[in-house]
Amino acid sequence: MQCAIGANVCFCMSLLVQIVVAFVVLGYVQVGASESEVPVEGTDIDVVVLDATNFTSFIEENPFVLVEFYAPWCGHCKRLAPEYAKAATELKSHEPKVILAKLDADEEENKALASLYGVQGFPTLKIFREGGENVMFYNGPRDADGIVSSLKQMVAPPSKLLSSLEQANSIVRENPLTVVAVFKDPESKEYKEFLNVADELRSEYNFTHTFDSSYVPDTGVDLSAPAVRLYKNFDEGFSDATDLSPEGLKIFLEEKSVPIVLELNKDPSNHAYLVKIFNGVGPKVFLFLDLKGADADEYRTAYSDLAKASQPKGIKFLIGDAAENENALKHFGIKEDKVPAIVVEGTGTSRQSIGLDIKASELAHWLQDYLDGKLKPYVKSEEIPETNDEPVKVVVRNTLNDMVLESGKNVLLEIYAPWCGHCKRLAPTLEEVAIEFKDDDDVVIAKLDGSTNDIPNEIFEVKGFPTLYLHTAAGENIQYEGDRSKADLIEFVNKNRSNPPKTGAVKDEL
Ligand SMILES: *[C@@H]1O[C@H](CO)[C@@H](O)[C@H](O)[C@H]1NC(C)=O
Ligand SMILES: *[C@@H]1O[C@H](CO)[C@@H](O)[C@H](O)[C@H]1NC(C)=O
Ligand SMILES: *[C@@H]1O[C@H](CO)[C@@H](O)[C@H](O)[C@H]1NC(C)=O
Repeated sequence: MQCAIGANVCFCMSLLVQIVVAFVVLGYVQVGASESEVPVEGTDIDVVVLDATNFTSFIEENPFVLVEFYAPWCGHCKRLAPEYAKAATELKSHEPKVILAKLDADEEENKALASLYGVQGFPTLKIFREGGENVMFYNGPRDADGIVSSLKQMVAPPSKLLSSLEQANSIVRENPLTVVAVFKDPESKEYKEFLNVADELRSEYNFTHTFDSSYVPDTGVDLSAPAVRLYKNFDEGFSDATDLSPEGLKIFLEEKSVPIVLELNKDPSNHAYLVKIFNGVGPKVFLFLDLKGADADEYRTAYSDLAKASQPKGIKFLIGDAAENENALKHFGIKEDKVPAIVVEGTGTSRQSIGLDIKASELAHWLQDYLDGKLKPYVKSEEIPETNDEPVKVVVRNTLNDMVLESGKNVLLEIYAPWCGHCKRLAPTLEEVAIEFKDDDDVVIAKLDGSTNDIPNEIFEVKGFPTLYLHTAAGENIQYEGDRSKADLIEFVNKNRSNPPKTGAVKDEL
């Protein structure tokens, strides 16, 4: 968790973020030591203090430094401090050397450094290795024990040298994903490249290697050096890499390390796979249906066949029970009586399509149509409200053209989300503004729920909620970024509105 810098908007959440947030909220993912005491001054003697004058030289001289960019006023930083201090003390005499440092990023002279390293909130933790040649975010646990064990793992050799077949078998048994690589000799190019990849991806997989192919756990399929095999506790149980180049290995691991069809549920062991899928670049396909229904097996089989056939295209497949995934359905604007429903999200929101009431036998055809660009992009809209007589008018995606874009009026439009606190605080003010303009035929005050309606982002740039725009009668869009007070909003509308003469009126004057 971070303290955001200067936010008076609630940030839009993509489905990915919502799912990740949901897991955090449900306690599946540890994001920090929550109940720690605020530290007593002077207990962090083993945390190295850095500032702009000595940061660079210190990083250059030390092979592994974790730096906390903090601000003195930030609550999350205060909670982290005692855990961080404890971890620093515990790691003080570790071999190889691990150093915990901190830098006050709120201090004027240090701000340039913080922005150079992409610090956007506090605390931000970054690892500087090899004299600063290799810099990455630390996203691991935030309690002392968690920090110590993650850092120890990070400085350990990236791949474990296997010493027996029994040892290899037990590592494969205990971990959902294990890489076992076999090489002819430690001088080979493949081995060195493998170590680089292992170093980069060490937090995601257990990497092991051997120079003795009899240590490779048996699968019934022979492996001859050089080779890399990924063991997994799902689907076919193992996959062999065909391309041992660093790029090839990374693609292989990314593709083969998630289930061919991932079930979208609250099982914590699914979390790592979900994150991987949502961080990946390819299109994502979701199938929602009643997984307890009589025809569920038929759908599962058809979907899984489709997923297998689509693997080389890098498409990821998820399946979810409609009742259990109520929020996801809401996010996509799918009514429960419209399932089985298939959704595909391409890269960029415009490439989303939805197939409602779909038959198992139609799934493959539907996806092919999507890939061929034959499906219309899906536009999400709430239903048009039956009554709309409150001072602040309700706009939905399907009335956006009539009520705003082509209305010929000056419309102050608030794009909001129901869960957003800043929006709730703005609501009574906006109502007062609307009452102020109620007798002015040329001005409309309106709101649009940005969480249940698609926003055409080429027209309104929405980075957070609430976003306020004045769409003028002349067709201009002016974003409001001022103070959210009644007087300022009214002044903004009055100063920026346009009232082009009506065609009829112009003729009369001529
Ligand atoms: C860096 O400079 C600050 C302020 O001069 C000092 O407090 C700190 O101990 C220095 N750190 C190192 C590692 O030299
Ligand atoms: C495998 O990796 C996990 C975390 O990445 C670690 O906790 C575990 O100890 C590793 N297991 C082995 C056998 O190395
Ligand atoms: C729009 O309104 C603001 C006050 O909210 C004002 O400062 C600005 O000049 C106006 N823009 C135009 C084009 O009149």
